[in-house]
Order: sequence, then structure tokens, then C-alpha cells
Amino acid sequence: MSLTNHEPNTPTAPGGGERLAAHLRGKAAAAIGQFCRRLPEMPKSAYPDALLGMGYFCESFDLMFAVIAANVQAAQDDSDYEARYLAMQNVLRPFASEFGIEPDRPLLGPHRKLFTEFYRKASGKPWPARYPSDQGNPWLERGRFWSGRMLANLQRTDLAALDKAKYNLGYHWAVEFVSIGEFVELNAAWERLGVRSAWLGAHCEVEPEHASCATAAITSFTSVDDPLVIRGIRDHEDDLAGFYTDFAGLIDRENAPRVAHVVAGR
Ligand SMILES: [Fe+2]
Ligand SMILES: [Fe+2]
Repeated sequence: MSLTNHEPNTPTAPGGGERLAAHLRGKAAAAIGQFCRRLPEMPKSAYPDALLGMGYFCESFDLMFAVIAANVQAAQDDSDYEARYLAMQNVLRPFASEFGIEPDRPLLGPHRKLFTEFYRKASGKPWPARYPSDQGNPWLERGRFWSGRMLANLQRTDLAALDKAKYNLGYHWAVEFVSIGEFVELNAAWERLGVRSAWLGAHCEVEPEHASCATAAITSFTSVDDPLVIRGIRDHEDDLAGFYTDFAGLIDRENAPRVAHVVAGR
């Protein structure tokens, strides 16, 4: 059953999503594509560390969604009453989806639980009860770094409440829109390696709906041409591109000793 036939509570202006997408420069999509193409080069021995870093990074979106919702609601004195509750509904819906809460569906598995199953299947190890320190795991260190960068952008202190809410909605839209292609590519890349994952499959199913909610959140609260929305979109694209570029670089680093060994053995 498809979850993509969702009608957001706020009508989205025709072409609203397309006009927002025009502000993307392709940086994040290129970095995601590069990482997925190089995934087969990652030694299997690196899977536990790499997927721990990936899992940390993905969980940080849950806090980001909470921050985005808080920042929209914090514009209580500066934004229109109806605009605010419609934007909140369209931000909370994708957030709730992270925890398996989908309208008109029985309670599903939280994405965090689905990730632990993916981790066990791919790495052969159980997911740890707590995240360890970064020491000796550059994947986790990069996951923490980019999670911190994204949260710092959302929690920025240089914007007044209304502008910060608009910026957060732009950032949120980029999260949801870019993740449509991101999860299609990640799913295909892992399937080529023989790993089928309910975590990846669930995202492939819900991200188009999330993107439509994110567009509706913007059109109910401000406009698709708002410069603060555009700034949020571009900042998230930069942050996500940075994460995937670093992760693709770490594949090289995992292979470096082996390459050096092969060269030395000639
Ligand atoms: Fe998720
Ligand atoms: Fe999403």
C-alpha cells in the first residue's frame, strides 16, 4: 500500500515544489551519488564503524525535526495564527513518521528500530546500547561533526524569531526533498551488495509524502520565493554534501593501508 497519495491539509501552490527545487544546485545529489557508487569499495570490516556513524547522523534528524517544530512555534508573536498551526501540522507529520506514526495506519516500527535491524544484517553485529566515543572511529566522528553543524544552523542566533522560522522551514524542505533521491540511491546501492533493508525501503515509500508536507509547510507560512527559505535550502544542501563527501573520502582511508600493502608487495 502506497503512502504517497497524501493530501496535505494546506493546498500546495501548483509548481511550489518545483520552484523550491530550482534553488538546489545539485551538490548534495552529486555527493550522494559519489558515495553510493563507491560503496562497493568499502571493506566489509569497516561496515560496523561506518554504519554506526551513518546511524548517528540519521538519528540526529530526529532532534533536528524537534528543533524545527520548536522554532516555528516560537514565532507565536510574529506570525499568523492559521499559518502557524498549518505549518506545524506539516512539520510534525514527517517527524511522527520517524517513529512509525502514520495517519490511517497501525503503529509501525520506529525508524531507529529499523536501522538497528539494517545494522545487524549488514555488519553482523548488534547495535550498541549507547554511542561510544569517537576515538578510533572516524565515521562516528564525522557523523557527530555534521550532526552538530546542521543543528547549529537550525539553532542560529543571528535571526529574529520569524526569520528563523522561515529559515528552518527552508532547511526542513531540503531535508525532505533531497532525501527522496538519497534513499532511492542508498537502497539500490545496498541491494547491489545483497543487503535488503526495511529501513531503506520505508524511506523510499514515505519521502515523497514528506516532501509534499514540507512544501505545504512553506506555502502556508510564507512563500516559496522567501529569501530565508532559499537560504535554508542551500545551507542544508551544503551540509548534506559535506557529510557524503566526507563519508566517500573515508572509503579511501579504509582502503589506504591495503593499497599501500599491495604496492609495497610488488
Ligand atoms: Fe527516518
Ligand atoms: Fe523524511
